[in-house]
Amino acid sequence: MSDTFSAVKAQEEALLCRSYSRYPVAVVRGKGSRLWDVDGKEYVDLLAGIAVTALGHCNDEVCAALEAQAHKLWHVSNLFYQEEQLELARLLLSTSHHGKAFFCNSGAEANEACIKLARRYMRKVKQRDAYEIITLGGCFHGRTFGALAATGRESLSDGFTPLPEGFKQVPANDLAALEAAITPATAAVLVEVVQGEGGIVPLPGDYLRGVEALCRKHDILFICDEVQAGLCRTGTFWAFQQHGLTPDAISMAKSLANGLPMGAMLATDEMARGFEAGSHATTFGGGALASGVAAKCVEIMLRDK
Ligand SMILES: Cc1ncc(COP(=O)(O)O)c(C=O)c1O
Repeated sequence: MSDTFSAVKAQEEALLCRSYSRYPVAVVRGKGSRLWDVDGKEYVDLLAGIAVTALGHCNDEVCAALEAQAHKLWHVSNLFYQEEQLELARLLLSTSHHGKAFFCNSGAEANEACIKLARRYMRKVKQRDAYEIITLGGCFHGRTFGALAATGRESLSDGFTPLPEGFKQVPANDLAALEAAITPATAAVLVEVVQGEGGIVPLPGDYLRGVEALCRKHDILFICDEVQAGLCRTGTFWAFQQHGLTPDAISMAKSLANGLPMGAMLATDEMARGFEAGSHATTFGGGALASGVAAKCVEIMLRDK
């Protein structure tokens, strides 16, 4: 280890909470698929910030959009209309059968939005006391409390219990177990089409179509977490499109703004009826700066496929 790296490491240990284990590399610069560390060593970045910098580090077009937006408008809150949100929503909604978007800041938050909308849709629109979310063994949906409860891994909730109620998990690839778990209290089934943190496990199309069919049969919602597999990573814009699925809602984040914090939920017009003004909100969600950059990223993804 160089003296420069050792100094960075020692400062971090003094200054930051110990919630990450890191590789012994302090990165100072990136361009395209290359990174450089504090000692000037060059790397080919095959990690892309955990599926985030899909368009490359400091992509020229994205930098130009960021700079233009930075001189125009950063943030006014969701108390005001912002055309950046509309442009981004138009682009995202053009990629799927969904009718409405909700913007937030991360993958976990996008899943929280899906979970909250599912519960509220059942209560307010369907007039059913259905709140339970069923997820699959091996899934990962994030680290906020709802997403953590959905993830259902004891190793991740160690020391954080109690988690919120209303989550149930069944083994993946077992439709009988899923059907047995569905009760009048079930609001939705939440799946990753390709389980990412679970080990890059693509779930079979027949199984996923079976999951959707069970949701339709029992009149519950079918939700896909596209945070890691979405945004062109599987060859279609969304992973669910590999299998002819029609989820009621999807969550996304990661490469949506190529590294600026940005998440979103897309929902059908029908499911979106579950929210009304005041039901859900976030200060930064869909801010003009992140939305302007995300719109450029989605435009590039659509153009370059
Ligand atoms: C499938 C999936 N969902 C949700 C998340 C959580 O996203 P975030 O870390 O942006 O909260 C992740 C993160 O890796 C993920 O892979």
